[in-house]
Amino acid sequence: MDNYFLGVESTAHTFGVAVVDWEGNILSNVSDSYTTDGGGMIPIEVRKHHKIVADELFERALKEAGIVETQIKVIAFSNAPGLAPCLLEGMDFVKKLAKRLDVPVVGINHCVAHLEIGDSVGANDPVMLYASGANTQIIAYESGKYRVFGETLDLGVGNFIDTFARYAGLGFPGGPKIQRLAEQCECKDLLIDLPYSIKGMDVAFSGLQTKLKNLYDKGIPLEDLSYSMQEVIFAMLVEATERALAHTGKKELLLGGGVACNSRLQEMCKIMCKERGVKFFCPDRSLLVDNAGMIGYLGLKMFKVGIFEKDLDKVDIAPRERTDEVNVLWK
Ligand code: ATP
Ligand code: FE2
Repeated sequence: MDNYFLGVESTAHTFGVAVVDWEGNILSNVSDSYTTDGGGMIPIEVRKHHKIVADELFERALKEAGIVETQIKVIAFSNAPGLAPCLLEGMDFVKKLAKRLDVPVVGINHCVAHLEIGDSVGANDPVMLYASGANTQIIAYESGKYRVFGETLDLGVGNFIDTFARYAGLGFPGGPKIQRLAEQCECKDLLIDLPYSIKGMDVAFSGLQTKLKNLYDKGIPLEDLSYSMQEVIFAMLVEATERALAHTGKKELLLGGGVACNSRLQEMCKIMCKERGVKFFCPDRSLLVDNAGMIGYLGLKMFKVGIFEKDLDKVDIAPRERTDEVNVLWK
């Protein structure tokens, strides 16, 4: 049967292509991310990156899945939310391909895709801690939509970590480097006093950023700063998430987003879940970070309930679409 779904991801630094079959098995999930050694992420440069890698990733995704392009029935792509230049590059690629193959397209909200991939690891009705670069939200399903119960009031937690890492000359992405430094901290019983900012289920990081930069300028070792920073920001996230679990009465926690790759954050979440009698779910790293597998996976669910577009002129990007604006018609 030629019922294969192509997923395409391009909301930010990562361009990805995946092949998913009719049963939801992810047969291939390949990607290439824009990185730097010293500076930050410039959207126009990222767009160029995506243009360069797109065709090769497409070929690789087909090859790994063992299919040819004429077996693709539908193309799902992340059309929201994200950086406009990156979204446009993805859409251009998808429209050309959809035209050539004469197949319909499904526009996917990237944040909702992070949530929906949770059922591939067994989460049915979770509270999700979505901790990525641009986004930090605590989300759960209620009456036809994914509601945002708590979120960052300023920066996404990953962007917060990356900003400090860049200030300290560590390059992009900073999260994995900060984690390694934190593990090397030799005085873990001495937590540096840092602002802990949580209001209800919302968190804020900007005061913490200023304080960390000051301490770095004063010569406090990066290992110690990284350790204390992680302890404080993750404690904030776990506290807010615990409140959302109490508020909704849900019994599952799902992690999503690149920052959820952090083993210390995972550990703190597991402890909280154990204490509350809540089941803990965390997808594999390849499905936590930005990836096309989750896009194809949600595309399949949407297509099966009739959500797709054949008229390519009606397909557009929505850089600012929020999680709770999406009508969840497939549940
Ligand atoms: P979204 O579009 O969903 O907001 P994103 O574009 O930020 O996602 P992701 O791949 O989900 O992309 O997340 C990238 C972020 O994850 C970066 O900020 C990076 O520093 C952070 N990150 C990756 N690994 C780790 C880690 N081990 N510890 C902490 N942060 C991490
Ligand atoms: Fe993401």
